[in-house]
Amino acid sequence: MLMSHPADFTPVCTTELGYVASIRSEFDHRRVKVISLSVDTLEAHDRWARDIEDTHGFLLNYPLIADPEARIARLYDMIHPNEDSTLTVRSVFIIGADKRIKATMTYPLNTGRNFDEILRLIDSLQLTEDFDVATPVNWRPGEDVIIAPTLSDAHARQKFPEGWTMVKPYIRIVHQPVRDA
Ligand code: BEZ
Repeated sequence: MLMSHPADFTPVCTTELGYVASIRSEFDHRRVKVISLSVDTLEAHDRWARDIEDTHGFLLNYPLIADPEARIARLYDMIHPNEDSTLTVRSVFIIGADKRIKATMTYPLNTGRNFDEILRLIDSLQLTEDFDVATPVNWRPGEDVIIAPTLSDAHARQKFPEGWTMVKPYIRIVHQPVRDA
């Protein structure tokens, strides 16, 4: 997960970085590496990291890229001039092991992200990568899922021999398959 923060020493960003540090084990458990970016210097990042520890009780336990000239931020389209011409918006890129972008999110400066939702998104991405399923609205891990609409009934019978509940021919519900540990 690559995420950008508008700037060092700003209140919402401090809560985001502190919260992500506090749930680092959740990312480790999912084998996801976290890296963040802020358009400030390494020296500023070092001082800000001390504030994050002061306010949240967690050391910044993942890398924070120093991008004072916004070179990376511009490459990844993290600056949206209608929002601010120099600060990055709150971008999130979920990048797969195959180096392809699996999901993106963009939040404005004044709204902190919901990292519990981002974990839920990662759970869905990992599950749907492993099995021919899709996750329905507000799905939580462990809840029923939908057989991928791209799978024909004939193929679905092979993959889900226990059958499914058919709400409509295109809505076929199964228990969530379990991924290998
Ligand atoms: C913040 O992270 O608190 C913030 C940064 C830039 C503009 C608004 C809020």
